[in-house]
Amino acid sequence: MMQQKERVLIVDDDSTTLKLAAHIFEKAGYDVYTAMDGYEALNKVATLRPDLAIIDVMMPGMSGLEVCQRLRANPDTAWMPIIILSAKSGVDDKLDGFQAGADDYVGKPVSHKELLARAGALLARVKRMHQPKSRVIAGVGVKGGVGVTTLLVNMAVQLASQGISTILAELRSTRGTVCHNLNLTPSEGLGGILRTNPAELQPREVIRRLVHHSSGLRVLAGPTQVADYALTEAHIQMILNTLQSQAEYLLLDLPQIAGGGVQLALENADQILLVLEPEAVSVACARADLEILKSWGLADRTELLVVSRARSSNLMSVKDVEAELGVQALSVIPPSPEVFYLAASVGKPAVLSKPDSLAVGAIIKLTTALLDRFSASGAWRG
Ligand SMILES: Nc1ncnc2c1ncn2[C@@H]1O[C@H](COP(=O)(O)OP(=O)(O)OP(=O)(O)O)[C@@H](O)[C@H]1O
Ligand SMILES: [Mg+2]
Repeated sequence: MMQQKERVLIVDDDSTTLKLAAHIFEKAGYDVYTAMDGYEALNKVATLRPDLAIIDVMMPGMSGLEVCQRLRANPDTAWMPIIILSAKSGVDDKLDGFQAGADDYVGKPVSHKELLARAGALLARVKRMHQPKSRVIAGVGVKGGVGVTTLLVNMAVQLASQGISTILAELRSTRGTVCHNLNLTPSEGLGGILRTNPAELQPREVIRRLVHHSSGLRVLAGPTQVADYALTEAHIQMILNTLQSQAEYLLLDLPQIAGGGVQLALENADQILLVLEPEAVSVACARADLEILKSWGLADRTELLVVSRARSSNLMSVKDVEAELGVQALSVIPPSPEVFYLAASVGKPAVLSKPDSLAVGAIIKLTTALLDRFSASGAWRG
């Protein structure tokens, strides 16, 4: 793919300076736009969205400093790299420039090479900070043991097996089971992270604790023991910030709906899968959870997922569940005890150990539907 040219807006009331600077940047491979006063500059920023602005200070009407201040005050342009290029180059002038929000202040005359180098360094820095962000899918049970981990482990392995970079994080303070499902040596994963004060937690500490599965999936496993340290909101925030730049898909295996850290994780999710069984207690819990999710403004991104674990005529029909809750289920995983017990006993998730089973068919269909949904909303900027 051809690299898009970076766009520079040069603002100067002196047409000779303007032409010369434009020529230099064009020759260096930039798309160059020019403006001869502050108003024209603000208009061009709004319509052309340049990647960088180089602004003179002394201009009739609006000064370059004011242009700078206005760009910083507008949330749409507050991030924009700005270099001030001015004949006023005393220390106080420079301080005024930085005060107005400039990233760099260069006195005239400046060598063309230096100006290009400063512009290049500034743009590279912005690019480095512009990290890609994962698609986040959170699975949460209406109560314990309804099949969340089984579902997410299989979805995650299915994604990873297709070559899609995926991380599964089991965010809970009680003992995790993801490692057992994948036959990975239970590592300290999250348990180790929890012992660290979140204020001192470094991204590399989180990344170091990911374990790798043969499918390519990376896992942040829940604690191997009951954790002595709480999983705080600060921990979750730090973990999410870190992991969201590390994979295309981030799957969160969450305990039941609760305020604090779980709420924070759900707020960071693009898609929430609320998992329940087709029986009365689950339905009652689901009703309450849907209310909470609604009050948190998360109802729109929530889907209902019905997992039948047992074959029993006493279970409710999915239709009845949907009617009770007034919500359609996105997917129904059929009862398949043999499939999942085999998977557990060989430490190989069902998508790998029983790929032809009905349950795996349903999980793959669900995964594909979510992939389609996300690809329709734009590509990952990896
Ligand atoms: N469709 C299914 N049919 C039969 N058994 C299933 C099905 N889905 C999951 N199970 C089984 O149900 C049990 C609980 O599943 P799992 O550990 O995934 O639940 P969970 O919601 O993650 O539990 P926890 O609340 O402890 O985290 C496991 O033994 C699993 O093999
Ligand atoms: Mg679980």
